[in-house]
Parts: sequence; structure tokens; C-alpha cells
Amino acid sequence: MTPFNFFFLLYFLLIPTSGYFQPLEDDGFISGVISNKGLDFAKDLLIEKGIDTVVLLKLPEIENTAQVALVGNAKVVLSDITIKDVQVNSSSVVIGESGIVVVVSGATVDLSMKWKYTVSSWLIGISDHGTASIKVEGMQVGLTLNLKNQEGGLKLTLLDHGCYVGDLSIQLNGGAAWLYQVLIDAFQENIASSVEDGISDKIKEGIEKLDNSLQTLPKQIALDKTAALNVSFVGNPVLTNSSLAIAINGLFTRTSEILVPRSYNNGYKVSSACGGLPKMIKVSIHENVLKSASLVYFNAGKMQIIIDELPDQNLLNTAEWRFVVPQLYKRYPNDDMQINISVSSLPVIQVGYQDIGATLSVDITIDVLEGGEVIPVACISVDVSASCGVEILGNNIAGRLTLQNFSAYLKWSKIGKLHIHLIQSLISSTLKTVVLPYLNLQLKNGFPLPTIDGYGFQNTIILYNYPWISVCSDVSFIDEDYYLIQHSTYVS
Ligand SMILES: *[C@@H]1O[C@H](CO)[C@@H](O)[C@H](O)[C@H]1NC(C)=O
Ligand SMILES: *[C@@H]1O[C@H](CO)[C@@H](O)[C@H](O)[C@H]1NC(C)=O
Ligand SMILES: *[C@@H]1O[C@H](CO)[C@@H](O)[C@H](O)[C@H]1NC(C)=O
Ligand SMILES: *[C@@H]1O[C@H](CO)[C@@H](O)[C@H](O)[C@H]1NC(C)=O
Ligand SMILES: *[C@@H]1O[C@H](CO)[C@@H](O)[C@H](O)[C@H]1NC(C)=O
Repeated sequence: MTPFNFFFLLYFLLIPTSGYFQPLEDDGFISGVISNKGLDFAKDLLIEKGIDTVVLLKLPEIENTAQVALVGNAKVVLSDITIKDVQVNSSSVVIGESGIVVVVSGATVDLSMKWKYTVSSWLIGISDHGTASIKVEGMQVGLTLNLKNQEGGLKLTLLDHGCYVGDLSIQLNGGAAWLYQVLIDAFQENIASSVEDGISDKIKEGIEKLDNSLQTLPKQIALDKTAALNVSFVGNPVLTNSSLAIAINGLFTRTSEILVPRSYNNGYKVSSACGGLPKMIKVSIHENVLKSASLVYFNAGKMQIIIDELPDQNLLNTAEWRFVVPQLYKRYPNDDMQINISVSSLPVIQVGYQDIGATLSVDITIDVLEGGEVIPVACISVDVSASCGVEILGNNIAGRLTLQNFSAYLKWSKIGKLHIHLIQSLISSTLKTVVLPYLNLQLKNGFPLPTIDGYGFQNTIILYNYPWISVCSDVSFIDEDYYLIQHSTYVS
């Protein structure tokens, strides 16, 4: 499965949670709400990426002439003006009326440059050169971003941005540095505006790149050969002073054919609260997502398994059953068998207050394999009630089925009557030892949660809140190596 990689776009658009209900669109069945804590985390990440793109940035050469007493016209060239380091003292992110505002205040920037001084007049020829370090203090950077739905995708716009250099000091090294200090100091203004322009340009560029990567987000993610997940954004992101919510359609669809759209009612608002716990993000999945998954796989005829291997392979031979079902052995002596388990009606799935309940009807057909032929000999109908607990495995939301109860009856038989108690115990052990372990293995792969490469979920809690299942979590850095490799694909 392709990890649903939308989290990285949340760098900058995260906000606090305090129990408000998010007014989401009616056809958004997966929602993400980002809290204050998450917003801060994203902001720090954005700034970190921003600094990485600015460090080693080379600013344009500055060249000017100055009138020097007694010697005449001096030519000064400042070159290789390079940003060496940026330190951010404090930063903040707020949601304002116009959009999301990120402010960096009191940043310190270290630069290096080369300087060259030449005087060539008819009287004298002087030239000198050296290096210098520049320190910028009290730099402020601000940007205002807006995020809108554009045909199911997200459009990020930079509404406003600015960079203001506070104090700038230059320390010359080499040459007869002391002699030229005053002269070079005259270029403070030029250097300051060059730093401001350079950083402003990088911001514009960075946001454009971020927007471009938003445009490349898929609207649909193929999960396997049968199903795709509709990840189109629904409605505009909802910004309040305390939270930011995004909704995606989130329903399963068929990959191979166009399904007649089925209308699902949402009609329930999702809460942004995480049981009073401060969590960075909350991802909520509506019951309809599960229903759509069930519908897609059922209609595609995928809810069927053939069991022809068992830990105790003898059970799949008629000989093992010769005393229990003598008719079977009599007609097909020493033949191998297989069990065909097929869901016969659309499973009913409901999110409860502690787990997900599922009731389904399955037909269990016993096939005898004789001379390369599959001969169905009996079919037992079973109504099963099961519950499914949700858990987080890695960055996937996974399920674990538990059998509640079942009732079974013989649907048809070509080998005469089968005793009901025999059927019950046969079905019970088949369900417990074969079917559930098999399904649980499948469910373990689960459903990918939105992630950012190198980052994972931590301290996750699951909340059941009919008709939503929510995952509240913090995000933390997990995979350094992977992160470093992927690094250059972000803002830079
Ligand atoms: C950093 O910010 C704090 C307040 O946020 C301020 O008191 C402090 O002087 C600042 N330090 C520098 C080096 O700008
Ligand atoms: C956020 O807005 C609500 C009303 O919409 C208001 O009651 C609350 O005081 C605001 N909070 C802040 C921190 O501005
Ligand atoms: C995906 O979801 C969007 C938004 O709800 C909807 O407009 C679109 O028709 C859906 N696409 C498919 C293939 O169902
Ligand atoms: C399994 O059983 C179902 C009906 O119960 C049938 O439609 C399907 O063809 C069978 N599959 C195999 C491989 O025998
Ligand atoms: C399981 O038990 C419950 C009540 O105990 C009942 O409502 C339900 O129909 C049963 N399910 C099956 C498949 O027998």
C-alpha cells in the first residue's frame, strides 16, 4: 500500500484543539484536526527546512565606488556573500483572519564575504583585499499563507511575506583591515537589503515548491487490485482560532470500474477533542469508510477464501472423517478436501462505543478434490457476530477480530444429513483456528494513516465515538537515515 503522504503538507497548517466541533462538509468521511501542539511542531519543522534552504545561499556581488579624501575614487567589491548560519530565537504561528501567519523574531544570521578595494588614479595605484564576517541580529521574518480547496486538491498561496534585518555588523579580516573598516561599513545598508531580498526570494520559492508538491498529491490512492481510496479534499480547510480541520472524502471505490455513486449520509460533526489530552493531531474515520470498504470488496467478489492447507493437513482428507461422516468416506475414500468460505451477504458494520461490530453471513462449502476435479459435497450457512478492535501498528491503523457468537445450519448436502452438533464444533474450530487467524493476519496490514517520511505516530490513543473512530496522536521523528535521504525533496 502506498503510504498516504499528506502529512508533510501540514508543516504549516496546524492548530490547537480545545473541544470545538468542526463544521466539516457532508461528504468528508476522514477528517484531520491539528492542535496547537501539532501546529507548533509543524511550524518548527517548516522553519528548520527554511533554514536549510537559506544556509549556503550566496547573495549577489555588491560593487560600488566611494570618494576617498586625498586618493580619489575607490572601487569596492564585496563578493561571495554567503549565509553561514541562522539561529532562530523565537517563532510563533497564529491563525489570523487572513490566513495562517508564521513569524520568526529575533533571528541571528552569520555571513561571510570577500572584500576588495582598489584605487587607480594617475597618481597612485592601491589595492587590497581580505575576508569579512557579518553578523545580523534581530532579524524578523513573517509570512501569511492561505489554503483553499481547488478541485479536490489543496492550493497554497503566499499572501504576504517580509524579512527585516535589524542590526548588522561587519568584521574585516586580512589586508590592512582596520584601514578599510569605515569604508566597508558604508555598505551595511546594501548588505542588509541584499540579505532581506535573498531570504524573501527563498520564501517565495519554498512556498511555490510546497504548493507544487501539494498539486502532485493524488486524488485517489490504489490500495490493491480491487479498491482505491478517494483522498480528494472536501470543502476548504476550516480555520478557527483554536484548530484547523481538513476533510477528505475517504471512501473506498472500485479501481477497475466506475461504480454508481452511493450516497452516504454523514450528518455528524466530529469533535476535535482527544479526551482532554493534548495531542498534536486527530484523524477521524467515519463508519461509512468501513461500510464503503465492505461494499467494494463484497461486490468485487473478494470476500472469499479457499482453505487447502491446515496445520493439521489430515483434517483435509476424507479418511480423517471416516468415523464421523461415514457417507463422505464411503463415496470419496482417501480424497483431499478443501474448504471454500464465501461471504454471502453484505456484512453489517457498526462503530460502537468500544469496538466495531460486524455481523456477516458466510457459506462454508466443503469440496472434495477427486481426479483434478473440485466437487462440492456440502454447504453450511453460518451467521457470525464478531467485534473488531482497532489498534495502531507502525503507521497503519489495523484491526483485530474477535469472534462473539455464531449460528450454523446445513444449507445443502450431497452426502446425507450431518449432525448439528458435529457442524457446530466443526465450524467453531474452523472459525477459531483457521478463519480468524487468517483474517487477523490480513487486518494486521491495516489502513495507512497519513504520515510524513521519517516521522511516526507516538503515544497514540484510539477513541470510539459513534459514528467516528478517532486516532489521537503525537508525531515524532523516528527514522533518521530515511529522513536524511528524503530531505532534499521537501522545501529545498
Ligand atoms: C530571545 O527572545 C527572548 C524573548 O522571547 C528575549 O528575552 C531575548 O532577549 C532574545 N534573545 C536574543 C538573543 O535575541
Ligand atoms: C476563540 O474564539 C472563541 C469564539 O469563537 C472565543 O470564545 C475564544 O475566546 C477565542 N480564543 C482565543 C484564544 O482567542
Ligand atoms: C471522490 O470524492 C469527491 C469529493 O467527495 C467526489 O466529488 C468525487 O466524485 C469522488 N470520486 C470518486 C471516483 O468517487
Ligand atoms: C466458493 O463458493 C461460492 C458459493 O458459496 C461459489 O460462488 C464460488 O465459485 C466457490 N469458489 C470456488 C473456487 O469453488
Ligand atoms: C449473537 O448474540 C446476540 C445476543 O447475545 C444476538 O443478538 C445475535 O443475533 C447473535 N448472533 C448470531 C450470529 O447468532
